[in-house]
Amino acid sequence: MICEANPELDIRETDVFTGEHFNAARLSRIAVRLFQHAPFVARKFQCLRPYICPFERFIEFVPQDAEILDIGCGAGLFLTLLAETRRIRSGTGFDSSRSAIAIAEAASQRVTGNVVLDFSHRGVQDAWPDGEFDVVSLIDVMHHVPPRWRADLLTQAVSRVRPGGWFIYKDMCRRPLWRAWMNRLHDLVVAKEWIRYEPLDNVRSMVVKDGMECLRVERINRLWYGHELLWFRRPVEA
Ligand SMILES: C[S@@+](CC[C@H](N)C(=O)[O-])C[C@H]1O[C@@H](n2cnc3c(N)ncnc32)[C@H](O)[C@@H]1O
Repeated sequence: MICEANPELDIRETDVFTGEHFNAARLSRIAVRLFQHAPFVARKFQCLRPYICPFERFIEFVPQDAEILDIGCGAGLFLTLLAETRRIRSGTGFDSSRSAIAIAEAASQRVTGNVVLDFSHRGVQDAWPDGEFDVVSLIDVMHHVPPRWRADLLTQAVSRVRPGGWFIYKDMCRRPLWRAWMNRLHDLVVAKEWIRYEPLDNVRSMVVKDGMECLRVERINRLWYGHELLWFRRPVEA
């Protein structure tokens, strides 16, 4: 894994870092149990996903006992991993894929412990779940959303972040071109979709305009996939 952080925008890790380390193999083992009754292809996809997407990075930065909203949650991998690792108090997820939400609901039944998980079938263009959250996440969703909805999506997302809370943004890289194209081919095969990337600088400026501080920019490569992460925090009001 290659990880480059921008030192000028670095988070003071002690603010949020909980000290517990995860890795892809550990998260994949948890996913094997959570998704054991999912259809074959979905099960394999969820179990392999921690090897290509750096979920351990997101999990380590979610504050203990957080309430979290995951936009475009897919089959609920992020929220169920957070619940099973006892990181969160509650998780709310929504996604425009009905079948993905059905798998998420089944996986949530296999989570041990007392975490409240709520999954619903809706798109970013529909009415959103109510409330404010300690963390709002948008992971690998933006390149699927039509460009005309993107500014509104970001405004809605950050409006759900409590003062002092976090907005975690991740998408696939636009550069180098060969990594961007490898992911484009992935989405053509898996999602049967010709995706369009949103430049990271656009995302950053739109979210900062909505009152958030950008504390960290990260680039992480896994196999041929290139990931770009932005960590934002809503300032605590005086
Ligand atoms: C690559 S998957 C990522 C899923 C999940 N965030 C994860 O990281 O495992 C992209 C997800 O975005 C969802 N999605 C695409 N367009 C959407 C929209 N307009 N509203 C809500 N979800 C959408 C898809 O259904 C899919 O589950």
